[in-house]
Order: sequence, then C-alpha cells, then structure tokens
Amino acid sequence: MLSLSDIALLFARHGAEQYTGEPVTQLEHALQTAHLAEQSDADDELVTACLLHDLGHLLNDQGRNDTPTLHGIDDMHQYIALPTLRSLFSNAVLDAIKLHVDAKRYLCQAVPGYHGRLSEDSQRSLTLQGGVFDAAQAQAFIALPGAHRAVMLRQWDDLAKQPGLRTPSLAHFLARAERCALTPARSGRGASITPPA
Ligand SMILES: [Fe+2]
Ligand SMILES: [Fe+2]
Repeated sequence: MLSLSDIALLFARHGAEQYTGEPVTQLEHALQTAHLAEQSDADDELVTACLLHDLGHLLNDQGRNDTPTLHGIDDMHQYIALPTLRSLFSNAVLDAIKLHVDAKRYLCQAVPGYHGRLSEDSQRSLTLQGGVFDAAQAQAFIALPGAHRAVMLRQWDDLAKQPGLRTPSLAHFLARAERCALTPARSGRGASITPPA
C-alpha cells in the first residue's frame, strides 16, 4: 500500500529515467499527461489518474530500464500499481488507470487515423496488448464503468511525449491527488508530500 509520500519518493527515485521508446522522462510524461487533463478542466480524480497512470513502470524494474516491447514483453503496467493504490483512491481514479491500455485498443477501432498517429513504441506494444478491438469488443469496452474517462486519459497520454514542455510541478499535482484521497491517514497527510529535492 502506498501513501502520497511514497508516490513522491518513487518519482524522486525513478522519475528522471527515460520513458522507454519516447523522448521524455517518466516524470515528464506523468506531469504532461496530468497537465493536459488539467487544461481540459478534468476533475481531481481524473487528473490524479493521469499523473499515476504509468506508476506501474516505476514499480517494475523490467519496464524502467529497458524497452520490453523490443523483447516481445507486455509489462502489464496498467495493473501493477492497482493493489498499491486501492486503499488510497476510489474507482474513479483506479478504473481510468486500469483501462488506459484497453482504451488504446478501443480508439484504434473507433477513431479513423488514430492508429497511424501512435508512436512507434505504442504501436509495437499494441500488438502485445492484444491488438485492435473488433467492433463487438469496442462496444463491450466502452460500456464498462470508467471507460469514457480512460479514453480521455489515453488521448492526453498519447500527446504527453513532448520534449521540453513546461508543466506545473509534481507538488502541484500531488496536492490535487491529496484532495481526492480517500482518508487523511491513508493519504499520508501530516507528513510532507513535497517531492524530495
Ligand atoms: Fe501506459
Ligand atoms: Fe503513458
């Protein structure tokens, strides 16, 4: 189980690592995704899901220091962080994280030209993640609780790979996460959630 302080520590330890296959770091990608959500007036839960959607990469050595897709590996990162976040956030946060990979499979089916705009690594991982949904799979997916929010997250996720883009700080987004955390004790309130220098 993670607290917000633990999350700040994870970003401090691993946030400077390259997001594999993309021209940004793990922290830049998280901040950019949350920033794009915030610019679209997303609520605290969705901004927090955007910040944390790839936390599984920070918890998983395999996904951090290599490009797993080049070795034919699906790192299942959308699921890895969920058990550690379950007592900290509601399903409004967790479902968007859980479904953000399948949202890509949905968008490839539902939006003409979407697949062609994906980055090379994202196209490679799509195959490992099960490929493009067929029409029936897409229909079933979008009926799931949280699917529409996961689709919004996914579209910001795809755009959050811009070298040098200025964003608010991690502390800013952790404050938004704290606002939607389930309980003060579990959020780590009372302890500083300022990212270590
Ligand atoms: Fe992801
Ligand atoms: Fe991502």
